[in-house]
Amino acid sequence: MSADSQTLAPLARRDAARTPLQVVALDGPAGAGKSTVARELARRLGWHRLDTGASYRALTWCLLERGVLRSGADATAAELSAALLGVDLQQLGVALDHDGTPTVAGRRLGDAELRAQAVDRLVSPLSQLAVVREFARALQRRFVDAGGPAVVDGRDIGTVVFPDAPHKFFLDADLDVRAARRHAEELARGRDVSFEAVRAAIAERDARDAGRELSPLRAADDAERVDTSALTVDEVVELLAARIGVAAPAAGRAATAAPPAGAPERYSGLVPWFYWLSHAVARLFIRVWLRRRRVGAEHVPARGAVLLIANHQSFLDPPLVGTAVGRTVHFLARRTLARVPVFGAMIRWQGTLFVDKDGSARGGLGAAAQALAAGRAVCVFPEGTRSDDGHVHEFQRGVLLLVRRARCPVVPIGIRGAGRAFGRGAKWIRPVRCEIHFGPALPAADVLTEGGLERVRQQVRILAGDV
Ligand code: DC
Repeated sequence: MSADSQTLAPLARRDAARTPLQVVALDGPAGAGKSTVARELARRLGWHRLDTGASYRALTWCLLERGVLRSGADATAAELSAALLGVDLQQLGVALDHDGTPTVAGRRLGDAELRAQAVDRLVSPLSQLAVVREFARALQRRFVDAGGPAVVDGRDIGTVVFPDAPHKFFLDADLDVRAARRHAEELARGRDVSFEAVRAAIAERDARDAGRELSPLRAADDAERVDTSALTVDEVVELLAARIGVAAPAAGRAATAAPPAGAPERYSGLVPWFYWLSHAVARLFIRVWLRRRRVGAEHVPARGAVLLIANHQSFLDPPLVGTAVGRTVHFLARRTLARVPVFGAMIRWQGTLFVDKDGSARGGLGAAAQALAAGRAVCVFPEGTRSDDGHVHEFQRGVLLLVRRARCPVVPIGIRGAGRAFGRGAKWIRPVRCEIHFGPALPAADVLTEGGLERVRQQVRILAGDV
């Protein structure tokens, strides 16, 4: 039974006069991290999570379905207001299910409906209308009245919907960071939009949500502001949980376990000063010569075990990934490379983990598993060899052994341009722009289910632009 259904049974109506309101209000602009943080915080508290943006999206989708609104067209608030004349929103059948999922005439709506492009386009202007806000607010209040404690995220939760919520936070982040997060989400959904387009759309939406007359996006006077630009999801959740007074997460979550103090680093020959020196040089070269751009690097947790899985086209891939992540990354390489004079020593000092040709556990996967057990970041290229046709090939299943042993999150990475800059057989490095796209972290359990590795490969393909 999920935490959701436990809290709902029995489905007791809150007596507004007597029971103190148990709501965490999370407001902030698009891409500030509200959804992920709200979901994780709700899980930690065993409370419901209510995404109020979904109420506005469900109503928008329903109005499109019924032909009240036309897709493919931008519309002003005045035009939308005219379109709604004579429409009784109560009669449309839009509701919230027991777990907060919006329904229309009993049909539960998912991402396919709520995040459709036509909905994306119209939801912000539509949410400016008083009738729409009144309708959505009533839905949201009824949900909490009936369902009990909830983490509620949106734009006006602390100011208008639940002004008496005991815990209020306003999450924000730099526009570039928010745009990068949304861009990675779009790529993960299979939409190959440009970073610039996503950034412009977010800036426009910010302006509209903050500038509207009714319930503009703003922090409640008694909300705590949290800038999430440089924080991982775990760190934000940690901070909020500490403010609310919730105990630290259960022990034994390998995903965030810190390395034991003084643990011997038997798994690699890392020499920290050499790592940082060589990285500083590589980073400079990569920035200047390859004009490297990275998108979504915040998906890599700042601490704890994480397995990075990337496509492979070039010897440039390890330095490209290594210099794009703000923490030490261990790469896997063939043991024969360790014996190459000078180069072998250099990559050993950089923390490379060596694998025998047969890829056996004894021959290197063991070292990778040890590194992960010590809370390190490890990067693998599961295609096994460099691709020379620009495509992302089959993944070797050996990587699943690592995931199974480490039970750590997996971050898919797509590298673009490295093959053109320095592919197989190239004699020199061409000044081609390289991009590193990071996707949202996937829990080990998801990767280990049937077809999980292939799903990771598909993510890598999309991120690498191989679609
Ligand atoms: O968070 P989101 O992108 O799913 O929200 C979609 C739109 O809904 C957003 O443009 C603003 C609006 N919204 C709102 O006006 N008030 C809320 N509490 C939540 C969302």
